Parts: sequence; C-alpha cells; structure tokens
Amino acid sequence: MRSSRDAEGVEAEDYTRALELLIASTNPGKVREIRAVLEGLSVTLFTLADLPAVREPRETGRTFAENALLKARYYAQSSRLLTVAEDSGLVIDALDGRPGVQSARYPGATYPEKFARLYGELAPHPRPWTARFVCALAFVGTPNSVSAVAPLFACEATVEGEIAPEPVGSSGFGYDPIFYYPPYETTFGNVDDERKLAVAHRGKAFREFRQWLTAGRERGGAPPENRPTFRD
Ligand code: IMP
Repeated sequence: MRSSRDAEGVEAEDYTRALELLIASTNPGKVREIRAVLEGLSVTLFTLADLPAVREPRETGRTFAENALLKARYYAQSSRLLTVAEDSGLVIDALDGRPGVQSARYPGATYPEKFARLYGELAPHPRPWTARFVCALAFVGTPNSVSAVAPLFACEATVEGEIAPEPVGSSGFGYDPIFYYPPYETTFGNVDDERKLAVAHRGKAFREFRQWLTAGRERGGAPPENRPTFRD
C-alpha cells in the first residue's frame, strides 16, 4: 500500500490504491450482500472469517452511525487493514423505533421467536405498522493513520416499508420475512438477493461507498467530497 504525507505532515494511506479491504462483519447474510455490491472492484476483500478470531466489540453506540464507526475502528485495530463496517437494524414506528440498534439482540433465540414477540408488541397498535431498515456504513484507515479516528467515508441509507401481518418467505436473513416492501407487494423474505439489494438499505449504502472508492481511483486521490458525515 502506498502512503503519503498531507499538508500537516500526517502520514495517511493512499487508500484509493489500497489492494486489501476488510469487510468487518460476522453475519453471513450481510457479507453475501456486501460482496455482491463490491464485486468487480480490483480490491482483495477479506471478511472476519479470514482472520484469527477476535472477541466482538460491545455495540454501545446510541445510533447506527456510532456503532458502525465503533466496529470499523475496532476491527481496523486488530486487523491493521483498511476496514469497512456497517451497523443496521429494523426501526418500527409504532414501537418508538425499536428494535433499532438492538435488532440483533431483540429477545428470542431464533427469528421466529423474535417475530412472535414483535407481533405481541404490535397487536395493540393499528396497522399499517410502518417501518424501515437502516444501514450506517463507516470506512476507516489503519490504526497508525489519522483516518483511523475520523472515518474516511461514512453514509447512511434506509428503505421504507411495513411489518407484514405474518412472516412470508424464507429468502434473505434476519427480519426479511416480516418486512413488507409495498412496491414489490411482498416481503423481502419472498424476493431474491438481487431484487432486495436493488432497493434495500445495505445495497444503497454500499453502492454509495463503491462509487466513492471508484471516484477516488479515477482521480488518483481522495475525492473533494471526502468529508465524513459525522464525527465523534
Ligand atoms: P448488527 O448490525 O450486527 O447490530 O445487526 C443488525 C441486525 O439487524 C441483524 O442481525 C438483523 O437482525 C437486522 N437486520 C439488519 N439488516 C437486515 C436485513 O437486511 N434484513 C433483515 N434483517 C436485518
């Protein structure tokens, strides 16, 4: 990987020429979708499954963006690779945004158990049960560079829908069978990966990331719009 010094003499990677990138996720459903969006880039993609196991960080952020950045920094530190992480979840309006950042940890050992509990919580509320999936993405540099602190790139994307009256389909993962997407007139559990990715939160966020990476490569440097959308 090439490196350079910026105007303040701070060493920073020329990440646009980076050949190796870590997708910091252990969720096979997410990794499959992210690989599909990044396919064809001349970058070697690693996932956490390719590296020695490390303990997962505690996701203590109050927002998806905070958790995405926390995970990106943590795994960049342990892998010493340029790292992209995401945090995502299901936000249900009638439940004041829950399960939200706790989606993976919502009570229930299996997704059918989580669904049953959610339907119990939703029962007193009138339909439609409007909801959205949210995906926050953060891309950071390696630990010895300034870009390990503020993200090199960050974005957030959503897809609007409703909680279906009952689970439908077995495609995708997680809450897909209960997420009804009105333009498709069915749930994400009932469409293939390609149709889901075309409209869903993770597909949108990672396409934006891909465009940003590609723009940097074509110009031989960081695009001028390289401004983090959040800092901590
Ligand atoms: P985390 O980002 O690892 O905290 O976990 C996000 C959780 O949100 C996943 O484990 C799923 O339960 C849920 N989730 C996020 N994106 C999707 C999706 O595209 N389909 C279904 N469930 C999702």
